[in-house]
Amino acid sequence: MAAAGSAIGLGNLWKFPYMAGTNGGALFLIFYIIFLLLLGIPILLSEMAVGRFAGLNAADSCSKIKKGWGFVGGLGIFSAFTVLAAYSVVGGWVMKYILCSINGEGLDADFFAGYTSDSKEQLLWTAAFIFISAFIVTQGVSKGIEKVSSVLLPVLFVFLVGIMIYSLTLPGAKEGVRYFIVPGRESLSLSEISSIAVNAMGQVFFSLSLGMGTLITYGSYLPKSAKLTSSTFTIVGLDTLIAVISGFTIIPAVFSLGLEVTGGPGLIFQTLPAVFAEIPAGRLVAALFFTLVLFAAITSSISLMEVIVSWLTAKTAISRYAASVITAAAVFIPGFIAVFSFGAPSEFSLFGMNFFDFLNFFADKVIMPIGGFFICILVGYIWGIKPASTEISNEGQLKFSFRKIYTASIKYISPVLIVMIFISSFL
Ligand code: TRP
Repeated sequence: MAAAGSAIGLGNLWKFPYMAGTNGGALFLIFYIIFLLLLGIPILLSEMAVGRFAGLNAADSCSKIKKGWGFVGGLGIFSAFTVLAAYSVVGGWVMKYILCSINGEGLDADFFAGYTSDSKEQLLWTAAFIFISAFIVTQGVSKGIEKVSSVLLPVLFVFLVGIMIYSLTLPGAKEGVRYFIVPGRESLSLSEISSIAVNAMGQVFFSLSLGMGTLITYGSYLPKSAKLTSSTFTIVGLDTLIAVISGFTIIPAVFSLGLEVTGGPGLIFQTLPAVFAEIPAGRLVAALFFTLVLFAAITSSISLMEVIVSWLTAKTAISRYAASVITAAAVFIPGFIAVFSFGAPSEFSLFGMNFFDFLNFFADKVIMPIGGFFICILVGYIWGIKPASTEISNEGQLKFSFRKIYTASIKYISPVLIVMIFISSFL
């Protein structure tokens, strides 16, 4: 449940709908599902197997498998910083929206643009989000997080389904449903299609928390009796369900409200308040909903922070408490730069992106695919499928019925696809 809590977060509720919106809707969904099956499931299973086998932090787990391969986990630890920084900015937006919903402030579509270009207050909320995450990490993963996840995920689910049903009954919602599930409305060029594929792959990595040592770290806390394959299916199944429901909630509402489906990162913040405004006790529903989003975000942000903290406590003599404080302080720095980058003049852009977009780009399209690629090589060729299968099947006690497909994916399909897509994204 803690790993499901890590997977389910802003990636599902905030990012998935807007990514689907900007990337052609149905085609994005199709690519997403293909990559989920071909890459997502096998890589997630591999990361957990590496972690449980070694029982160490991400970097040391990889070097326990093979000396010199610690960089795979190390890369993840470094990049967990970058993801966490951008994540905390969005987490801050969610907190702001909870407060505004309670206060009954008019959260119309323009509010979001105005708010994100006025940096100062955002800093406060970003800091608050980092602080809460760090506080929970000081308490350790297994105690609180697993319990919180097991209670809140079902509540979130029920809530989300309710809002989805409402959203689907709005006038004009059908157009949105069509956009989301019926492909081929427009003819796309090869470069547009490949860009959709790149984005879908990045989204699979992001949503499943792959390529950054998170699942290695969580795997290292699992007992030898845990069933890795069924955990994998539970995590992937729940994560996908929430993402798709979120798509069915937001996209029809966007069409019904006459907003731009290609609106980008502000999409849920512009759409949902308008939807809530129409329902009785909407303010309360909005506040409750954004609170659930916040919880989902926190169970994810702590998993990112945990990667860094577990490594720091293993490598140095400092306590978990000190490691959490240091990590939080360090994450503030890119987080603050990201906040200021919204209003910054364009000379301050990196490769034509502001710092916030750059962090997202770097994580989804560079680091995670590289991390995923090396996990495939490490497990498929260096460690070997045989020892990996022994770990996955609990020394042969459990059936590992899809071992053949798993082998094909880890050794050939995933690495080749990742390289192809990686290259195409730069062409
Ligand atoms: N998967 C989370 C989400 O969907 C975000 C996340 C948590 C993550 N840990 C991660 C992404 C590690 C990449 C790597 O919101």
